[in-house]
Amino acid sequence: MQDVMKAIMDYDDVDAWMTAMFLYNSALKEVGTKLEILNDEFKHVHRYNPIEHIKTRIKSPESIVKKLKRYGYEISIENMIEYINDIAGVRLICSFTSDIYRLAEMIGNQSDLKVLTIKDYIKTPKESGYKSYHMLVSVPIFLSDSVVNTKVEIQIRTIAMDFWASLEHKIYYKFEGNAPEYISKELRDCAEMVSGLDEKMLSLNNAIQECLSREEAKQNENEASNHLQEAAKLGVL
Ligand code: GTP
Ligand code: MG
Repeated sequence: MQDVMKAIMDYDDVDAWMTAMFLYNSALKEVGTKLEILNDEFKHVHRYNPIEHIKTRIKSPESIVKKLKRYGYEISIENMIEYINDIAGVRLICSFTSDIYRLAEMIGNQSDLKVLTIKDYIKTPKESGYKSYHMLVSVPIFLSDSVVNTKVEIQIRTIAMDFWASLEHKIYYKFEGNAPEYISKELRDCAEMVSGLDEKMLSLNNAIQECLSREEAKQNENEASNHLQEAAKLGVL
């Protein structure tokens, strides 16, 4: 039996929907805090933030019902818990593609999170041109007398990928999934440009970092030789 479903049965006199939403909200808080800590630690050690921003959301009842219908399942809380994986959703927006893989690795290394599935739409983009890294994880929620494993979908993308996905999503909804071919083609072309931009920004950032560390090394060298000269003047050497 699903853990969330079991928790619902255990609280037999409490509204099942409210229990499910309480658990998914708790899972969002747990994962959100974990990610903020990882970001803070990275900043503390490397003076750099891999996460630009974090968005979290709970899927609306309308979207849950729509998705169950699309999948061909009867509308029930049991089916929702079993088949809808993105009721609790977290989106991580990064500057560079390298941050995405760094974050995915850090998430995978969290010993209390269980990674259920990974979909790498960066290595293999969707037909639409969609790029993003999806992880489905299960997080334990510690209650007064039980631990409930709850699913959270984490989507990790760059700012450019997110820009593309939001625009494409709006267009998709406007045309109810039937956009004219020339618009879909333009979107696929834009997706190519987004990939090009991400690559360029990453290599530019690497070049900036190299330049800065060369300058820092030169400065350290100068400081060391100044100290030596001072010491020689004072007759220490
Ligand atoms: P869904 O039934 O749509 O959730 O697909 P799935 O169960 O196969 O999951 P998948 O990981 O492929 O996609 C889940 C989520 O990724 C969607 O809810 C969107 O947020 C996002 N997504 C996937 N494909 C596209 C796309 O072509 N365009 C945009 N804008 N978003 C997408
Ligand atoms: Mg989804």
